[in-house]
Amino acid sequence: MTTSIEIKRVEKSNISSVDFDNLPFGSVYSDHMLTCDFVNGKWQSPKIEPFAPISLMPSAKIFHYGQSIFEGMKAYKDKDENIMLFRPEENWKRLNKSAKRLVIPEIPEDIFMDGLKALLELDSDWIPTNEGSSLYIRPFMFATGNGFHASPADAYKFVVCTAPSGAYFGGKVKVLIEENYARAANGGVGFAKAGGNYAAQFYPTQLAIEKGYNQVIWTDDNTHEYIEEAGAMNIFVRINDTLLTSPTSDRILDGVTRKSILQIAEDNGIKTEVRKISVTEVVEAAKNGNLKEMFGAGTAAVISPIAGFGYKEDDFDLPVLENPYASQLKKLITDIQTNKTEDPYGWRVMI
Ligand code: COI
Repeated sequence: MTTSIEIKRVEKSNISSVDFDNLPFGSVYSDHMLTCDFVNGKWQSPKIEPFAPISLMPSAKIFHYGQSIFEGMKAYKDKDENIMLFRPEENWKRLNKSAKRLVIPEIPEDIFMDGLKALLELDSDWIPTNEGSSLYIRPFMFATGNGFHASPADAYKFVVCTAPSGAYFGGKVKVLIEENYARAANGGVGFAKAGGNYAAQFYPTQLAIEKGYNQVIWTDDNTHEYIEEAGAMNIFVRINDTLLTSPTSDRILDGVTRKSILQIAEDNGIKTEVRKISVTEVVEAAKNGNLKEMFGAGTAAVISPIAGFGYKEDDFDLPVLENPYASQLKKLITDIQTNKTEDPYGWRVMI
C-alpha cells in the first residue's frame, strides 16, 4: 500500500551551513521531518514538514508520565547515489513492541516505511558519504493528549527526524561495572526503547564519569553479579577466542546490531555464546590474561571498543590487539550496510 503524504517543503534549505567533513553525532538536523498524529482513535495521514518546534499544552501527558519511545536507525548512500537502510523492519517491529508496553497505539507499517522513504528521498542530499558518517534517523512516538490523571493519553504523535552524523564516541572508552544501580528490572521496561530507560541511566553514568570512566556496564538488578548492557548498547565480551553476549530478556534490549553481529561472527568462523556472563568470570579472565576484548554494539556507535574497566577498587586495561574482533566485525557489518560488499542476508534495503 502506498500512503498519501502531504509535503510542505522548507523555503530555504539549511544544508549550506553544515560542515559534512566534521559532523558531530545527532546535533545537526536535516531540513524536514515526518509527523503523524493519532487522534479520535486513529492514525491520521502523515505529513512531511520543515524541521521545527512542536507545540504542546503544558498538560500533555508526555511531560508528566513519560509515555515516550524511540528507535535509532541509519541511512547510507553508496557511490551510485543509492539510498540504503539496514533491516528497517526490525526497527518498526521493535517500536511497536515498545509501544505496546507503554500503552501507545502501534504505528502501521505503511506509515512508518512509506513515510520514512519519502522523507529520505526529499532530504537525500543530507545523507553523508564520508567514511564513518551516515544519516542517523530518530523515529519516536509520544503522548500529546492532556490531563493529570495518571492513565494513558488519548492522543499521540509519531515523528521521524534525521541528523547527518559522525562517530558517536571519540577517543578511548573506559567503563565502570555497576554495583548499586540498575537500568532495568524483571517485569520492567528494559527491553523497550522507552525514553525513561535512558534518563534513568544519566545519574549513575554521571557518578562513573566523576570517577574517571566514560560509561557504565549495567549488571542485573538483583545480584549485580551478571553483566547485561554497556551504557546505551548491548555488550560483547571476548574470552580467549569465544565471543560472548548476554541473552535478551525483559531487561535487555533486542539490539539489531547485536543480533546482526552474532550472525556475522558465526558465519565468519568466530565461536559465539549467548549466555549469562558473570562479573567474577570477567574479572578472573582480566587477571589471568584470557580477557581479550569487550565492546558495546548499537546502531549509533555500531561497535565501540572498550579500552579498560573498573570494578570495585580495581582497574583493568584490556590488551591492544592487532586485528581484534571489534574491528573485523565492524568492517563486515558496515560493508554490508554501505553496499561495499554482497549482502547474503538480505538485510540491506534499497530505497
Ligand atoms: C542507538 O544506538 O541508536 C541508540 O538507540 C542509542 C542511543 C541512546 C544513541
